[in-house]
Amino acid sequence: MSAIHPIALSTWGGTFPATEQAIATDALEAGHVLFLPDLRFGLSDAERAYLTPEIVGRSKNVSYDPANGKIGGTTVAALKVNELRALMDRFATSTRNLLAALLPTYGAGLHQAKTSLRPVEVAGRVQSWRKDDTRLHVDSFPSQPSNGKRILRVFSNVNPTGRARVWKVGEPFESVARRYWPKLRAPLPGERGLLAAVRVTKAVRTRYDHYMLKLHDAMKLDPEYQARFSAATHPFPANSTWVCFTDQVSHAAVSGAHQLEQTFWVDVSVLRNPASAPLRVLETLAGRKLA
Ligand SMILES: [Fe+2]
Repeated sequence: MSAIHPIALSTWGGTFPATEQAIATDALEAGHVLFLPDLRFGLSDAERAYLTPEIVGRSKNVSYDPANGKIGGTTVAALKVNELRALMDRFATSTRNLLAALLPTYGAGLHQAKTSLRPVEVAGRVQSWRKDDTRLHVDSFPSQPSNGKRILRVFSNVNPTGRARVWKVGEPFESVARRYWPKLRAPLPGERGLLAAVRVTKAVRTRYDHYMLKLHDAMKLDPEYQARFSAATHPFPANSTWVCFTDQVSHAAVSGAHQLEQTFWVDVSVLRNPASAPLRVLETLAGRKLA
């Protein structure tokens, strides 16, 4: 079965038949990418002026926190920041409405996190191997422990010249986890507490977060694995939207610029199939609870 699951939807929210909600939720949890080719995030002419790498200076993206309205990572003049904030906030609200329509069973177990605008071309950017997202990986945040929560992301390609954002999509999570599990070292005694004490992490990393980060690193550092999926590309056209659990889908962003992205945390307890969660897959391999 293809890892890309197309859905014909052209509005942010609205009503969606219950059977299609269930099919979408099951596909998502099975590790597929929900692809909404007709769901465009519209920008005004004035907003399109923000689609330039110049607005981020040295950072990779503009970040916005819908919980408190704080915006960061931009060099936009103070007078213009409110316009940029309004754009980011509209995307945050649109994605919330979309997921409420598409995945209503997640309810209060769905938590909105940061919104990003990525105006910089992905291809050819010089990065350390760990930050190089052109290499296949599953998402894991080094400084922000998930405590076992899922990472769900909504992406919109807002490229003004019609360029696609090209991804590679690798094999299912369970295959990836089984391949690398024997090579992932266990946390050292005191290691996770020390990282929190010196503020490398914002809270004590759970064993789950430790292993997910090791898995992320092992994938990016394996040239053979990277080469095997070099042809498994999928273009997400300009004016399309896609949604996936990026902690589960083996993915890489190969090329493209100008993308909006919204992150959500999802409690494992609200999944229709909790056994599909990376937390449960790794716990089975470890033979113990990890978060
Ligand atoms: Fe990623």
